[in-house]
Amino acid sequence: MHVAVFSSKPYDEHFLGAAASGTHELDFLEARLTPQTAVLARGADAVCAFVNDQVNAAVLAEFKALGVGIVALRAAGYNNVDLDAAQRCGITIAYVPAYSPDAVAEHALAMMMALNRNIHRAWLRVREGNFALEGLLGFNMRGRCVGIIGTGRIGAAMVRIMLGMGCRVIAHDPVPDPTLGIAYLPLDAVLAEADILTLHCPLTPATRHLIDAATIARMKRGVMLINTSRGAIVDTAAVIAGLKTGAIGHLGLDVYEEEAGLFFEDKSDAMIGDDVFARLLTFPNVLVTGHQGFFTAEALTAIAQTTIANLAAFAATGRAVHEIAAPSAG
Ligand code: NAI
Repeated sequence: MHVAVFSSKPYDEHFLGAAASGTHELDFLEARLTPQTAVLARGADAVCAFVNDQVNAAVLAEFKALGVGIVALRAAGYNNVDLDAAQRCGITIAYVPAYSPDAVAEHALAMMMALNRNIHRAWLRVREGNFALEGLLGFNMRGRCVGIIGTGRIGAAMVRIMLGMGCRVIAHDPVPDPTLGIAYLPLDAVLAEADILTLHCPLTPATRHLIDAATIARMKRGVMLINTSRGAIVDTAAVIAGLKTGAIGHLGLDVYEEEAGLFFEDKSDAMIGDDVFARLLTFPNVLVTGHQGFFTAEALTAIAQTTIANLAAFAATGRAVHEIAAPSAG
């Protein structure tokens, strides 16, 4: 198949190229997918898209006109896709349901530990010849209460890591996993008890701004909040207000509500026009990474292999291995 790969980076070329090994014609496009750039898929039978690409009704209508039969997401989350519009256009949406839950869970752990022990600040100090410890005080993880919101594939990996560190783990998920051996509680109880909260639920209408002024008010004062899921689960303005009053003690974000157009790009020569994002970067107890939870060699290999398997199956049978149905299709 001829595949237009949007938002592509050198690492996508490397891993997708290796997985395809010449079986598909891959056209690597740097452009992010938007209604304006969708036309770049002209001549392609398939599109490969990433997390900040807009797979909305206008884009899908354009793809239908161009004869694109499938959009293969090289991602697990699909909140950026209008599934009803895809169904109306007769375009298959494929994704990579599980590639390496450990990659994201381990990144969440890295954020927790860096924030707790002030590694980001210590690194800067030592480089300046400042070996003073004042301001770097951390806390032991053993015995702390960790609240996990969403215990699917990534959340379950997080549960195992936290139990291994001797933490008390509680969780909230509308679909509990009894094999994890942890207590599931109503959301409010998790918010009230957790010293550390880590978000691993998908972005849906129900979870949009799940963390807002009202939920922050129910958390333990000084809570550590980690979001490696999707930016819009957190109301950034409310979190900034919480940081200013000390209601939130540490904040680790791998995702940000307005990350599209910012993350995955080198903006070091540009000015950051987003004042909310810029304010976040001024807090010493905030650590932001640019959506890199998935970015391990193991995860990229698995993502590429599943994406190529989705495309190959669609070319052969008209069905991808992992398809997402429109919610209204039941
Ligand atoms: P999953 O589908 O295996 O698990 C999601 C879990 O969240 C399910 O158990 C579900 O029942 C639960 N859930 C749904 N609504 C909820 C709610 N209102 N409250 C609490 N729990 C709720 O998904 P997986 O693979 O664990 O991924 C989770 C999310 O992580 C993805 O949707 C994606 O947004 C994000 N992600 C981030 C990456 C990164 O690089 N930072 C990479 C991959 C995924």
